[in-house]
Amino acid sequence: MKWIDIYEKGIKLGLENDLRSDIDNKIFYELEKNPYPDSVIITGENEKTIKNLFVSIDIDISIVLLVSQLKKNGIEIDGILTHHPTGKGLYNITEVIRLQRENWQKNGIKEIDAQRLYEKIYREEELDLRGNYNGPESAAGFLDIPLMCVHTPVDNIIQVFFEKFFKNKNDMSIDDALSEVREIPECKMASEKGDEPFIIKNFKSKAVGKYFVDMTGGVDPPDEIFKLLKKTGIDTIIGMHYNSDNISTMEKNRLSAIICGHMACDSIGMNIFCDMLEKEGINIISGSGFYRYKRNEEN
Ligand SMILES: [Fe+2]
Repeated sequence: MKWIDIYEKGIKLGLENDLRSDIDNKIFYELEKNPYPDSVIITGENEKTIKNLFVSIDIDISIVLLVSQLKKNGIEIDGILTHHPTGKGLYNITEVIRLQRENWQKNGIKEIDAQRLYEKIYREEELDLRGNYNGPESAAGFLDIPLMCVHTPVDNIIQVFFEKFFKNKNDMSIDDALSEVREIPECKMASEKGDEPFIIKNFKSKAVGKYFVDMTGGVDPPDEIFKLLKKTGIDTIIGMHYNSDNISTMEKNRLSAIICGHMACDSIGMNIFCDMLEKEGINIISGSGFYRYKRNEEN
């Protein structure tokens, strides 16, 4: 596959799984605008043929150096695909927070509140993103290794995966739902390392009840959203990871949560993407944080 074709496949998958009902699937192909600015080709020629792809969840200079060493050791690697953004992709992550705003509104949050909180986290993130995130790009450039990040399109896949997974599970107890999450292959693999899914329990409501799936939108949500979600009747938050302030705010607002695991969830999305790349003849070499599980072989 050409480098650009891998990238376009990722963006297309993101659009197909986008929670915004009004998004125009043609938008990307009209070339004007990338709807996911946190997903970019960092280095490498668009037309370069890629056969062997090193895939990791995170990227830093050491991973670029590791790939360079593996190549020296005779392992064929033509490029690196990372999930979490770097360089230009990371500086532009604020542009995907709008997905959270849409998700809140879809789940009953008033437009005015959703907009206010969106502006708040947008501003906070923008101020936080002032460091040097160009290390991996620079290393990959020096070593002539193609590098790309595909972030929100993959998070969209995870969002849809969990929306399907929890469908009709409203009456299930939180404990039983957690047991089912534990059986997801990637969650199982992460658990074996000690990174297992867990629950936050509001003891008053033992069932999953009305739930909110929160897997896309770039960054941690603002604490204030949990109070509003509770007010709209949400009982349980389904997420991949939260900071400690998020979790204590959920507890304060008597919400339950099923926290499925960061690396496990990101691996689910990357696996679905990589299964498609494999069908196109790409050989996947799984790197840091990536629990490879092939769903192609399930069918
Ligand atoms: Fe992530």
